Amino acid sequence: MNSSETSPPSIDNVWAARLDDAMHEAVTAHDAGLGRLASDLIRHGGKRLRPQLLFLSASLGETDETLLVHAAAAIELLHVGSLLHDDVMDGAATRRGAPSVNSLWGNAHAATTGTHVLACAMAELAHLPHDAVSAVTEAAFTVCSGQLRETEHVYGVDLAIDEHLEIIRMKTATLFGLPCRLGAELAGCDPAHVDALFRFGQQLGIAFQLTDDLLDLVGDSAGLGKPTGTDLRAGVFSHSVLLALQQNPGGRLATLLRHENLTAREAAEAAGLVRRGGTVDVTRALARTYAGRAAAALAELPEFPGREALAETPRRIASRME
Ligand code: IPE
Ligand code: IPE
Ligand code: MG
Ligand code: MG
Repeated sequence: MNSSETSPPSIDNVWAARLDDAMHEAVTAHDAGLGRLASDLIRHGGKRLRPQLLFLSASLGETDETLLVHAAAAIELLHVGSLLHDDVMDGAATRRGAPSVNSLWGNAHAATTGTHVLACAMAELAHLPHDAVSAVTEAAFTVCSGQLRETEHVYGVDLAIDEHLEIIRMKTATLFGLPCRLGAELAGCDPAHVDALFRFGQQLGIAFQLTDDLLDLVGDSAGLGKPTGTDLRAGVFSHSVLLALQQNPGGRLATLLRHENLTAREAAEAAGLVRRGGTVDVTRALARTYAGRAAAALAELPEFPGREALAETPRRIASRME
């Protein structure tokens, strides 16, 4: 399996530079200390997938670049803020190939930096039309509800697969569907085209999270830029793990995963049991199904400049698992 980062589709370098400037300016404008912590994380990169989805989707219509940069910055900052909080919740030691803010400075600093970055996202929203603000805030509520549902199920060895997929839709696919929809809306696209791009993003987001979780089990942390096995130890069970538990509810895997504070050795044993159980292939096939649905939604659209780069995204997600 290739666990390297998903290479993003290309976007105009000018947009990429403007986005970075806008985010840097936003996070450093108010508090120097918080700004430094946040801008370090932003400088460490990340794939900028969500802004790219927005810019590429907007190329279907008539674009106002300044508006798009503010919208992309708002969404990426919302994502970065949620990552800062997520790493506190998951107890993750690295992020974007560097020590996480929580591991360097502690949970209190990381949580406050996360809130600071979310406030910066709000400042970006002030530049957008009312409907766009509503779409972003609605998405933020959904992400929070998804994260809460995940938290309510930690160490839940009998979590239903449908509920797991619904959590993924809420916490991850929401921030994939949103930039596709918003980019197209801000560019004045036809509502049917906006809807197709939204469905493309949603299906893509589910494929992305299923793949990312799979790499957490079978990938290597250096390639991912974040630690593997953290979610197992934190009681956050992914698709392959839940399927393996369902296959053998009274087995060794369930015994291991039911109790908190799993040692690194026990987590490795649990991951090995899942890998040998065959459910990884089922998850891989499901991720491909969602990637295929994304491609089908995109196929409903006419030719436009960003279309080929968008079409490349589900293909890259699928190849990430090979
Ligand atoms: C990480 O998202 C959170 C998940 C949804 C798995 P990304 O993998 O897009 O993170 P960055 O922005 O590239 O760091
Ligand atoms: C990331 O979720 C946060 C959101 C999707 C809101 P995960 O915990 O699954 O992602 P990683 O593996 O830490 O990036
Ligand atoms: Mg995490
Ligand atoms: Mg998490």
